[in-house]
Amino acid sequence: MTQLIYLDNGATSFPKPEEVYTFMDHFYRNLGVNPGRSGYDLCLESGEIIDATRKQLTKFFNGTDYNRLCFSYNSTDALNLIINGMLEKGDHAISTTIEHNSVLRPLFHQSEYNGVEVDYIPVDSKGFVDPDDFPKTFKSNTKLVIVNHASNVIGTIQPLKEIGAHCKKHGIPFAIDASQSAGKIPIDLEEQNLDIVVFTGHKSLLGPTGIGGLYVREGIEIRLTRAGGTGVRSAVRTHLFEYPYRLEYGTLNSVGVAGLHAGVKWVEEKGIENIHEHEMQLTKMLRDGLKDVDGVTLYCMDDLTDHIGLFLFNVDGFEALNVGTILDVDYNIACRTGLHCAPLIHEHLGTAEIHGAVRFGIGPFNTEEHIDTAIQAVKKIAQMRTAASH
Ligand code: ALA
Repeated sequence: MTQLIYLDNGATSFPKPEEVYTFMDHFYRNLGVNPGRSGYDLCLESGEIIDATRKQLTKFFNGTDYNRLCFSYNSTDALNLIINGMLEKGDHAISTTIEHNSVLRPLFHQSEYNGVEVDYIPVDSKGFVDPDDFPKTFKSNTKLVIVNHASNVIGTIQPLKEIGAHCKKHGIPFAIDASQSAGKIPIDLEEQNLDIVVFTGHKSLLGPTGIGGLYVREGIEIRLTRAGGTGVRSAVRTHLFEYPYRLEYGTLNSVGVAGLHAGVKWVEEKGIENIHEHEMQLTKMLRDGLKDVDGVTLYCMDDLTDHIGLFLFNVDGFEALNVGTILDVDYNIACRTGLHCAPLIHEHLGTAEIHGAVRFGIGPFNTEEHIDTAIQAVKKIAQMRTAASH
């Protein structure tokens, strides 16, 4: 069998840089004690990696106070903390139709069970929101605007700076879901007028699964929705209000933090612009190779400006799931099919009623050879349909 061609980097990046595996192994073997719980040397040394990673990510997002960089298990975990900790009965929130279920479901729960009103700003035919739609939707009780930075379905990058400027002017907290963008395109709390950045570690930051987090700007209030161990001030009966403890509960995934540290270091050394350029070059190659193929439909791929390296398509006459199976079984190509946990954008594209679409997610370790094989494979699948209809 030929070697696997991994085009499912939207789900998780794979493989990780060698440095990530090596550093995790080193950390867990030599420093795998519980950081922040005791004062012996090993514990302090382990804690230094945690602090170094808080500092590294704070700088990465251009934050100012590394204690406000909190770790979580993943984006969904962090998004639940902010959505449930910032909205109360009678509040209004604004999001978009391009969100992932990590935002949609906590918001749907708030509407369904907690009397919160939510408006979803639609995207245009190219997959972008209009920033000027936001102020038109603001109300006196709007308590949160939350927007997907880069879509996990069609890869479009939303105009954060402009949305953030509207929010700032009206004093409304602005949070972004940077699950797909962190590590692929720059994120700057100041420049883009952001109040909260939520990230996951296992995608383009090239760390392992089970680690993510958020940066929360000073002045943003998030109520406690959980309580538990922090390792400090154990006599206090309630959970601590100060950061980072305020949003961290129980023992950290310290080996995950270590892997994330090595992943971010790798991204910084390679240069985020270089990684993005490489991935977009491969995405353009896919687009150019498949745009005129009879029976292949591409979604929002005409203009790849303000896109990340995700590629969405269908082949006429095939369920997306079956295209995925043929790619896997006949070509050893891994991809993701279906609705990609983002039902509203599939409704918008008209792909929800045909059970979704096929997604290729490009990563830093993909090559032109991988893309060429993928193009030829999709062309052959499209020809199967043509052959069958003759
Ligand atoms: N959210 C990830 C994806 O889009 C899992 O595949």
